[in-house]
Amino acid sequence: MPTIQNVAILGASGNVGDVVIPKLLSEGYTLTIVLRPDSKPFNLNGIDVEHIRIETASYSDVESMTAVFNGQHAVIEAFNPAAQVHQRSIVKAALAAGVAHLLTPDFTIDRFGPHIEEIPIFNPKLRAQRELEEAIEEAQSEARKHGRPEPQLTWTSVLTSLWYDWSIDAGFSMINKEKRTITRYGSGNQRLSLTRQERCGDYVVAILRNPERYRNRPAYFASTTIAVNELIALVRELAGADDEWSVRDVPLEPQRQAAFKLWDED
Ligand SMILES: NC(=O)c1ccc[n+]([C@@H]2O[C@H](COP(=O)([O-])OP(=O)(O)OC[C@H]3O[C@@H](n4cnc5c(N)ncnc54)[C@H](OP(=O)(O)O)[C@@H]3O)[C@@H](O)[C@H]2O)c1
Repeated sequence: MPTIQNVAILGASGNVGDVVIPKLLSEGYTLTIVLRPDSKPFNLNGIDVEHIRIETASYSDVESMTAVFNGQHAVIEAFNPAAQVHQRSIVKAALAAGVAHLLTPDFTIDRFGPHIEEIPIFNPKLRAQRELEEAIEEAQSEARKHGRPEPQLTWTSVLTSLWYDWSIDAGFSMINKEKRTITRYGSGNQRLSLTRQERCGDYVVAILRNPERYRNRPAYFASTTIAVNELIALVRELAGADDEWSVRDVPLEPQRQAAFKLWDED
């Protein structure tokens, strides 16, 4: 595999791009930001533009995506989950352009766990993974049939765990700063992995520096691993006696059933 220097990013203007782009530039990578035809102009304020190029292509147009990917060693799929439906055409373009390594549209919790299919929101990520592997297999078998060298696209699924700072600010966390509550599901003794959003940049660099180590597999990263009961003690200690936080207990099984009912009702 070539040393990775040129990196294309899809969905650069979002939550992943915000933290990954400054880190990649500080590490000396050359970046190509791939906008969609209906993207807003990319905001270059405060960014070192010397090592950045901006291109526009539709994710579903293999020919124009191939042209944009030419000369790229790696592609990062940092886009919104709504764009995962374009995985097959993006992978075909990466194969046609001879990209060496792809970071799949993940940056999420462990989607390789045995019960992941029970969480319907992950279905598009699982479909994108199947389409990635099928497209690579098809391209390789086509090359073998015609006696051509097989394309060598490899991939890594970056599993960052939940971004705790982002999820608190976005109101998706078990920690609610406004209401001063912490939600505890079940006993609260299970340990869970959490990360700071900013650390996604470090995780991406770790993979781009050593893609062989992370070749064709999930790569697990976290800033910390902690049980909710430990988190409750920590928050109370930091808040002090005058800042009262309460615990909201949610039993697991009724919660699970309520969640499935909501999903069925869309
Ligand atoms: N671990 C966590 O706690 C956590 C939290 C949030 C998100 N994530 C993950 O991070 C990744 C990015 O998700 P996000 O929700 O944060 O993305 P986002 O910031 O909402 O969107 C990122 C970019 O995707 C591009 N895009 C492409 N197609 C789009 C479409 N149909 N609608 C909207 N934007 C589109 C846009 O960039 P352009 O306009 O420049 O093309 C957009 O700025 C996902 O894989 C997600 O699962 C993880």
